[in-house]
Amino acid sequence: MAGTAPWAIEEGRPPAELLLTGAPARLERHRMRHGDILFAAIERSRDHLRPWMPWADQDRAATDAYLARAQASWDAGTDFGYTLVDPVTSAALGACGLIARVGPGALEIGYWLVPSATGRGVMTAAVRALVIVAFALPGVDRVEIHCDEANVRSAAVPGRLGFRLDRVVDDTPEAPGETGRSMVWVLEGPPPDAQ
Ligand SMILES: CC(C)(COP(=O)(O)OP(=O)(O)OC[C@H]1O[C@@H](n2cnc3c(N)ncnc32)[C@H](O)[C@@H]1OP(=O)(O)O)[C@@H](O)C(=O)NCCC(=O)NCCS
Repeated sequence: MAGTAPWAIEEGRPPAELLLTGAPARLERHRMRHGDILFAAIERSRDHLRPWMPWADQDRAATDAYLARAQASWDAGTDFGYTLVDPVTSAALGACGLIARVGPGALEIGYWLVPSATGRGVMTAAVRALVIVAFALPGVDRVEIHCDEANVRSAAVPGRLGFRLDRVVDDTPEAPGETGRSMVWVLEGPPPDAQ
């Protein structure tokens, strides 16, 4: 996958807002003000999230606590989480972000969508943007996506974007749909035209 960042990287952090091309969605840096729309999105998505996301049954206080942690880790320059916002209705379509938990020089991308936003390429477009941003951050030369072997829809996202399946590892299942075998998809960069 090739591409340069059309967005400015300032002080080692991605832009607070990313407007996707090719998909009707805007990524807004997680803020406490997203609590209402994010919790409403989780409430609409519980059955669809439960197989894969251990937090699927969270209450509003847990959503607020998550957003508070997300704000703090953005400020610390470690993790960069976004609420996906429908530009027409201003409802949340899901969330995604860059997470520093896969070692030096690398970031992991995590994501989920409300069921009504699936099947239109929204997450593929969001992950494409996050990859471009990740490789524009100082010191990042690898992006990973981890998902359970049984999570076919999730695995299709890195598959569409040129990630390679690097390995399948034993993992502790954290949600009821997980098998305990986790796929590790890897993309190394920066993209050729950013070098
Ligand atoms: C993982 C998840 C975000 C994937 O959603 P998705 O809708 O399949 O992914 P995208 O938004 O990229 O859309 C891809 C679909 O849109 C279609 N599509 C339409 N236009 C497209 C476009 N321009 N580009 C790419 N795909 C497009 C694709 O064909 C694909 O549909 P298909 O699977 O029926 O072939 C979603 O299933 C989800 O939220 N799952 C629950 C949470 C979860 O598992 N998170 C990941 C944990 S590891």
